Amino acid sequence: MDTGRPASYSGLADKTVFITGGGSGIGAAFTRAFAGQRARVGFVDIAEDASQSLVAEIQKETGTAPLFIACDLRDIAALQAAIEKIRIELGDIGVLINNAANDERHTMERVTPAYWDERIAVNVRHMFFAAQTVAPQMKRLGGGAIINLGSIIWRVKQPGLPVYNVAKASITGLTRVLAREFGHLGIRVNTLSPGAVWTERQIKLWYTPEFEKEVMAGQCLKTRVLPSDIANMALFLASEAAEKCTAQDFIVDAGWS
Ligand SMILES: NC(=O)c1ccc[n+]([C@@H]2O[C@H](COP(=O)([O-])OP(=O)(O)OC[C@H]3O[C@@H](n4cnc5c(N)ncnc54)[C@H](O)[C@@H]3O)[C@@H](O)[C@H]2O)c1
Repeated sequence: MDTGRPASYSGLADKTVFITGGGSGIGAAFTRAFAGQRARVGFVDIAEDASQSLVAEIQKETGTAPLFIACDLRDIAALQAAIEKIRIELGDIGVLINNAANDERHTMERVTPAYWDERIAVNVRHMFFAAQTVAPQMKRLGGGAIINLGSIIWRVKQPGLPVYNVAKASITGLTRVLAREFGHLGIRVNTLSPGAVWTERQIKLWYTPEFEKEVMAGQCLKTRVLPSDIANMALFLASEAAEKCTAQDFIVDAGWS
């Protein structure tokens, strides 16, 4: 049970926060954490049932429901329409969390040009277009924060999902490019790179006792990294406490990489 208590940043109250893939996993921890700061949260996800349940839970806990829009992020026009709907309903977006991804396993042999394009579309392409679409809104606000979810996976060279690794490695470059492009607008852009995080999906699909042994041997801290640990870093990066942080990669992996 993830019972991590978030820090409190009063400057996040009433900020409009847009989260991709905010309906489950680490994304759900982001949705909860920003809703807990009394931010106005809008999120998109392809998983409609999980997202609706999360909205109902947060509504029950806080009295305010985040705005959920069903959207497949491989469709950039649908993403742009969702961002516009969130702008109309919640106001100009001041914080963007580019979180959605899919870590489906695949062999080198299985990768065709079409599969490559689809994996890049699900794991990184939407991040560029979400940033491009919200930048004018952040400009109007006098600044903003963009957080791109990277990973340590390519640093530890994990085999079995090469295109995902490439996409995750590219996010370090995407962040640095966007930080330069948008810096003069007061927009900060950072990568947040988790290690092995104990989400329900990871536990169900991949986290065997053998894998946990490997992770614990690699980590300096012999403890599980939880979704709330990643959300705590996102709150910090979105807040004024991080006002001089941009173009960097913030790793939360208990010292594994
Ligand atoms: N869990 C980990 O150990 C770990 C480690 C390193 C990096 N990360 C990164 O953290 C982020 C979140 O990871 P997670 O483990 O919570 O992932 P997850 O797969 O559990 O959740 C991702 C969310 O994105 C949504 N999504 C997937 N494809 C989509 C699409 N086409 N359109 C709209 N929504 C879509 C999913 O429905 C889900 O809600 C990802 O960027 C991931 O690469 C996770």
